[in-house]
Amino acid sequence: MSKTATLEIDGKKYEFPLIVGTENEVAIDIKTLRGATSGITTIDPGYKNTGACESAITFLNGEEGILRYRGYSIEELAEKADFLEVAFLLIFGELPTKVELEKFHSDIKAQSVVDDDIKKILDAFPKSAHPMGVLSSLTSALTAFNPSSVNVDSEEDMYKSVVRILGKFPVLVAWTMRKKQGLPLNYGDNSLGYVENILKMMFEKPNEEYKQSSILVNALDKLLILHADHEQNCSTSTVRIVGSAHTGLFASISSGISALWGPLHGGANQAVLEMLSGIEEDDGDTKKYMAKAKDKSDPFRLMGFGHRVYKNFDPRAKIIKVAADEVLGDLGVEDPILDIAKGLEKEALEDKYFVDRKLYPNVDFYSGIIYRAMGIPTDMFTVMFALGRLPGWIAQWREMRLRKEPIGRPRQIYIGENSRAFKDIKNR
Ligand code: ACO
Repeated sequence: MSKTATLEIDGKKYEFPLIVGTENEVAIDIKTLRGATSGITTIDPGYKNTGACESAITFLNGEEGILRYRGYSIEELAEKADFLEVAFLLIFGELPTKVELEKFHSDIKAQSVVDDDIKKILDAFPKSAHPMGVLSSLTSALTAFNPSSVNVDSEEDMYKSVVRILGKFPVLVAWTMRKKQGLPLNYGDNSLGYVENILKMMFEKPNEEYKQSSILVNALDKLLILHADHEQNCSTSTVRIVGSAHTGLFASISSGISALWGPLHGGANQAVLEMLSGIEEDDGDTKKYMAKAKDKSDPFRLMGFGHRVYKNFDPRAKIIKVAADEVLGDLGVEDPILDIAKGLEKEALEDKYFVDRKLYPNVDFYSGIIYRAMGIPTDMFTVMFALGRLPGWIAQWREMRLRKEPIGRPRQIYIGENSRAFKDIKNR
């Protein structure tokens, strides 16, 4: 392949280098475009054709349905690793040794107490507040309780901020849910594994001993691993761009949580369950909703179907579908909503509209189903996604800072009014 791309504008030719990644992805490096062409820029709303960075964390190939963290396939990681190992891998680049993993976990545990005053902030929220808004605010508030800024040139400083957020975030997640349910706010149990501890903090009742279920621990471990990173998606790009202004880790992650909240991104798992409940209330008429999804004059979309980059099957959805069947079987769950989900999945997979557009069930179609079976309230689903995505956000923020990337600042093409004289208010 040639090493450059040529652009011709008004008969004048400009050469730009091609960059080739380790998986042979090719990009035209247009860093010099504006300077060379005296101000011509590119436009790509939604960034479908724009690479924002070079990254060594996650590789995905949407056409072939491949997802790898640091070179390891998602299938193998979901089967053989636990969430904390995957977090270490994403953030530091290699799978941890036994000693490294134990140290990592104990450093996280040492940071897992959240200042009791955070409870006052939580108390100020009405019970009706959406958990994602609460979580985003509490994460941002962590900055006030841990004000020292991270010296990104110090490996030790960077490590401290990583274990701090990994220690405190699950407490915020559990408190967000418990507050809404009127349960007393608790602290974790450092004798437990990371995921076991999360479940205990979330579900422990004040008047009975919490019993761990290996089915739930395994299911949550898998779900968190599958959500742990997904390269430059909307929330991760947000974390990187906010961090590119040298904003701290907690505040950058708080912005990522807000981006993830939207129903076209992480909020889809909640939207899936709401859609399924709506269909159930409407006599389970899946055909009616299939027709609505295909009707261009109707804004309704089949939530949990389609993906910006997977135009084949979402590899995470394949793993999670098996996990969903296992969990539902093991827990003996019978739920009409699940029957509707299965019916809808079957119809969409056979429907020409969905087949032609390569719209397959995505990870969120199944994750909500598992969370529901686990007893997690619907409006907490996206919070669970954030919990899984945390290591990815940290890894991407850290990489961006270590690579000393410039501040993110896209250009635009202005299409507004040309210069005009100010009109006094009485003449308007
Ligand atoms: N239901 C019905 N039609 C759909 C759907 C859907 N869920 N998704 C896409 N389409 C149609 C579009 O109307 C469009 O049709 P057209 O070509 O006739 O105009 C075509 O498929 C392509 O859709 P785009 O919106 O261009 O695809 P894009 O890549 O921009 O969007 C997205 C991807 C946002 C995920 C979209 O498929 C969607 O809205 N899905 C539902 C929400 C969802 O499940 N989001 C979760 C994503 S996964 C995640 O964040 C972890």
